[in-house]
Amino acid sequence: MSELLIDKSSGVLTITLNRLDKKNSLTRTMYAGMAEALAQADADATLSAAVIQGHETVFSAGNDIGEFLNRLASGEESPAFQFLRAISVFSKPLLAAVCGPAVGIGTTMLFHCDLVYAGDNAAFSMPFVNLGLCPEAASSYLAPQLMGYGRAAEALLLGEPFLAETALEMGLVSRIVPPSEASALAQRQARKLAAKPLGSLIETKRLLKKSQAPIVAERLLEEGTSFARLLTEPAAREAFTAFLEKRKPDFSKF
Ligand code: COA
Repeated sequence: MSELLIDKSSGVLTITLNRLDKKNSLTRTMYAGMAEALAQADADATLSAAVIQGHETVFSAGNDIGEFLNRLASGEESPAFQFLRAISVFSKPLLAAVCGPAVGIGTTMLFHCDLVYAGDNAAFSMPFVNLGLCPEAASSYLAPQLMGYGRAAEALLLGEPFLAETALEMGLVSRIVPPSEASALAQRQARKLAAKPLGSLIETKRLLKKSQAPIVAERLLEEGTSFARLLTEPAAREAFTAFLEKRKPDFSKF
């Protein structure tokens, strides 16, 4: 079965991450599929909202680390960057249903969602530094905006995870429900949105995002350049190799 399931019904695009054996880690093919589906949905007047969801046990383990190691992931033209650009400029309401681990881009993509419904098992983390990397998805700007600098520093410098309750309190998450209900709730909310006038939804979202949009666009590029450089450096190569060899990384030489 495909690693990405795309459904368009009742005015809603639904993207389901379906690579459970690898904890829904994201490959170039998956990023490309998501970017294309979002671009098409943006241009399709019969679709009013989009939902991104994973599985009840895991949202996403972030970028596929094997692809990181094979240098298949960097640059402005990369599918990952195209996906980030697509979610950052998506003009219609973007929702997510998040259960279990949401690692790296599994968390940072949520900064671009308008409504996030979390299972009570959701665990968010942005361990970029632990992998020799730096923030992406404009999270170096959006995380401190949302969480305050202190909590963003714990999340981004220490790579410390935070749970659904904290995410709710900071406003990253709109509501917490049992994992078995997160997807259905996101669908219900998306369909409610789809029943509203599309022009009003688009204009309201544009106004809500207006002050941050230019900063986000610029930060995406700046982070992308740094991320691409760090991906090739020895600390990151050690971190990726260690993950795949199921051992702790040794950063003592870097
Ligand atoms: N890239 C590639 N493969 C990954 C992956 C990733 N990001 N995350 C998990 N996998 C693979 C594992 O290598 C393992 O494969 P195997 O069965 O062939 O050995 C399989 O998925 C199951 O992962 P495992 O770690 O055993 O599951 P877990 O339930 O113990 O832990 C996570 C789940 C998500 C907490 C853990 O897998 C994890 O931390 N993943 C890496 C997250 C990360 O650093 N992502 C990059 C962020 S920038």
